[in-house]
Amino acid sequence: MELRQQTYQKLRDFIHELTGIVFSDNKKYLLENRLRSRIQELGLQSFEEYYQYLQRSSLNARTEINKLFDAITINETYFFRNEAQFNALRTVILPEILQRKKLQGTVRIWSAGCSTGEEPYTIAMIVREHFLRRFPRVRFEILANDISPSVLEKAKRGEYRTYAIRSLPKEYLDKYFTRTPNGTYVIKDEIRQMVKFFQMNLKDEQQMRRMHNIDVIFCANVLIYFSPEVKEQIVNNFYRALKPGGFLFIGYSESLIGMNTKFRMRQLPRTVVYYKPEE
Ligand SMILES: C[S@@+](CC[C@H](N)C(=O)[O-])C[C@H]1O[C@@H](n2cnc3c(N)ncnc32)[C@H](O)[C@@H]1O
Repeated sequence: MELRQQTYQKLRDFIHELTGIVFSDNKKYLLENRLRSRIQELGLQSFEEYYQYLQRSSLNARTEINKLFDAITINETYFFRNEAQFNALRTVILPEILQRKKLQGTVRIWSAGCSTGEEPYTIAMIVREHFLRRFPRVRFEILANDISPSVLEKAKRGEYRTYAIRSLPKEYLDKYFTRTPNGTYVIKDEIRQMVKFFQMNLKDEQQMRRMHNIDVIFCANVLIYFSPEVKEQIVNNFYRALKPGGFLFIGYSESLIGMNTKFRMRQLPRTVVYYKPEE
């Protein structure tokens, strides 16, 4: 079964329209490999038939769109992936936010494109370890979304292999994980309960409009998959969702340079953060 150029064009346009994710000219083989097993499972004969299947408005087609999300996304992640950002969150960003809030109220942190949960759980461990008991009048809300239902399932289960914990400080591993007989590590309930996972497509304007009053957004290693126009749309939705003075962290290899946005950039120890100026 071969993916013809014409069908590839239709599938990639459809995926881009739906998710913002770009499949460039040289990624045909990738999409071909990732979708072949979906086509076989559905008992279809060709990529063209699969494309037609996705266009239907039936419940089955909608279920398949979720499987498509699972199939096309890249979900690489691990705990403390971007250590300098998490250090900055602990030593600069959260202390500043708490001062601004006069040590009371709610702090809302959002991990956008959270994959299997390592990023929001890293944030939760930092909050638990350094802030929760010291600031009893502050409520910390950690929100985490992804477009792929299967990674969200894994995130909620909170069971990890050694790859995920390779950069995790040992004291966190000892304190917040239980080792299972088959060598995996399960995150403890006290951390799991701090994170609210939900499925949300960052490309979907309506869903994005529901996000507001956020203090800090982490959207690391997600924007690289989008086209420039979708990237700008999402970044401007982040801007709207943030409180004045709120912060946005993106991945090391990503930047907002050349983008039409009101975000300002600030240098922090070994990293940068974008922020929405206070009025
Ligand atoms: C490479 S992972 C990054 C995980 C984590 N932020 C990190 O830096 O380790 C990218 C994630 O973005 C998600 N993603 C891609 N497009 C998305 C969209 N339109 N809406 C929400 N999530 C999306 C993917 O499913 C994937 O889990």
